[in-house]
Amino acid sequence: MTPQAFFAQLWQNYIEITPQAEQIRQLFAATDGEVINDHVAFRTFANTPLQLDNLVPLILEMGYEVQGDYEFKAKKLRAKSFIHPDHTVPKIFISELLTDQLSEQAQQIIAKYTAEITEQPMDQSVFSSGRHWSTPAWEDYQTVMAESEYGAWLLAIGIRVNHFTVSINHLNSTNCIREVLQRVKEAGFAVNTVGGEVKGTPESLLEQGSSMADRMAFTFADGQEHEIATCFYEFALRHADNEGVVYQGFIEANADKIFESTNIAA
Ligand code: NI
Repeated sequence: MTPQAFFAQLWQNYIEITPQAEQIRQLFAATDGEVINDHVAFRTFANTPLQLDNLVPLILEMGYEVQGDYEFKAKKLRAKSFIHPDHTVPKIFISELLTDQLSEQAQQIIAKYTAEITEQPMDQSVFSSGRHWSTPAWEDYQTVMAESEYGAWLLAIGIRVNHFTVSINHLNSTNCIREVLQRVKEAGFAVNTVGGEVKGTPESLLEQGSSMADRMAFTFADGQEHEIATCFYEFALRHADNEGVVYQGFIEANADKIFESTNIAA
């Protein structure tokens, strides 16, 4: 699959449960024409047929290279990023929940669902395949939520893109992240304020911000209906180092706060 076809499929899958994304895209398309994305992100469960290492070959097949490895100790995650030689093709960031670091109770709940994943040959469509397990029960979702917001989100949503990211570097109308976030707020969307609206500094070479995830009504296995967080839109501004090279990597301290954009309690 070409990256172009891959991202077209992902976008459709994303806006189905994230209507704000198409509205935000249009907000910037109105002043800038085509909106270029910096990266997309996925979440998965470790120690399952859908674990990070099993997804890597599907990314490499599209011409990407492994860019970096990341660890988020408090959130019990590890991640890898991938970069494409064509810098207008979004980078890809995949994290996985290290479920063996959760409590016995949370591990058992997650294992009950992930045991339903069938091991089968995968292609790139797995990245918009959603849940490979039964609809979770409300009680299970809440128990996992108490320990890992990430885990609860993944249990309900499954494998689909968690966010796209507007590349502010490719906007002509502004090169200021605060201005971008102001436009998003003025259009009526909430912005993630964990650690401040802007994560990172020009000196660290990467500034990021994001909207708060959309919400949707979700019917749990036991028939209870509750609102859950779906996906959000991120905004990234990259800066050049002393040699004039624009930084392309990711910064754990920034990403750690971006993860909280799906926190429904926020
Ligand atoms: Ni991101």
